[in-house]
Amino acid sequence: MKLNELSHYYGDLKAVDEISLEVQKGEIIGLVGPNGAGKTTTIKMIAHILRPDNGEILIRNKHGELQNLFKNPRNLIQRGFLIDIPEFYKMTPYQLLKYFAKLANYPKEKIDERIDELLKMFNLFEWKYKTVDKFSKGMKQKLGLIQAVIHDPEIIILDEPQTGLDPKARIEVRAFIKDMKSQGKTIFVASHLLHEISEVCDKVALLNRGQVIAFDTIENLETNLKTNELIVQILESLDSEKIEPIIKQLIQNLDPYLAKDVDPNIAPRPVKYDPISKEFILYYDGKKRSRAEILKILFSQFNSEFTISLFSQPKSSQLERIYEELIKDKTPISQKNSVKRGVI
Ligand SMILES: Nc1ncnc2c1ncn2[C@@H]1O[C@H](COP(=O)(O)OP(=O)(O)O)[C@@H](O)[C@H]1O
Ligand SMILES: [Mg+2]
Repeated sequence: MKLNELSHYYGDLKAVDEISLEVQKGEIIGLVGPNGAGKTTTIKMIAHILRPDNGEILIRNKHGELQNLFKNPRNLIQRGFLIDIPEFYKMTPYQLLKYFAKLANYPKEKIDERIDELLKMFNLFEWKYKTVDKFSKGMKQKLGLIQAVIHDPEIIILDEPQTGLDPKARIEVRAFIKDMKSQGKTIFVASHLLHEISEVCDKVALLNRGQVIAFDTIENLETNLKTNELIVQILESLDSEKIEPIIKQLIQNLDPYLAKDVDPNIAPRPVKYDPISKEFILYYDGKKRSRAEILKILFSQFNSEFTISLFSQPKSSQLERIYEELIKDKTPISQKNSVKRGVI
């Protein structure tokens, strides 16, 4: 499957902004981004529910050739979708799954067996003949997953499959994804929870404001997006009007040691301040020597401004923190001043 410069507008809003991605057979690709990043819109286009305003979606046909979904949706390899939390009303899982299996031309004689197998896998077998309106949100979500794969599709596309699930069911879903991978299926899974899917994905596309800002293996993302950060926690609370001049002074005085190429998505300037935790975050060149120099300068030149109570490198996963930054960043400008954990 291949997405070529795919775009979609809602009015003036460019919800999906020239996304290009290539997914190989048998790969699990995670589409990860904060709410509103454009994941569902992208998936709805792949599902042929929404039309792209620009770009194309190429999917393999039964002869192994890439074919434009919107020019010719016939004879493509089978796909299965889970989009939004399904509402199945008064049907039973058996009726519902049988219906979807028939709709997708799954061999009639195998349908019952397939339904039982999948219901058992998700611990829903005893609910086979109960109506879905009695199901919890998590059970409906699991049934939605089963519906997505009932016809044994080659490509499985899941939008937030973990929504509404308790920890046990989340583990079931991860096991399910791994099982599908072992059967050679291609899986495309969207989530706003990086850690939930990073473990099962071969590659992750990080999406923000409709754009893919990175697309790589978790390992490479960790290396390429690597930022060298120093946390400088201070004892006193700074008066808000003093923060900006101090940041400027820090950038000036520490200049030889600060990072010059920090991704603006992560930090527009190499020094930030978080008034809640009373921490400066410095992006520096990563050298031991620089760390020593920075500390020296902080003590000698900023002694009258603040007292350092902690000077360290962050311990949490680099990628997780970068992702957190992206999520923080999506707050509309008008709300920025009122966010609780605001970083200036
Ligand atoms: N039907 C719609 N009409 C107008 N705007 C929409 C519609 N659906 C989504 N959006 C907007 O498009 C952007 C992307 O939404 P969506 O694709 O649902 O993101 P995600 O699935 O990553 O949370 C958001 O800003 C959202 O508010
Ligand atoms: Mg969504």
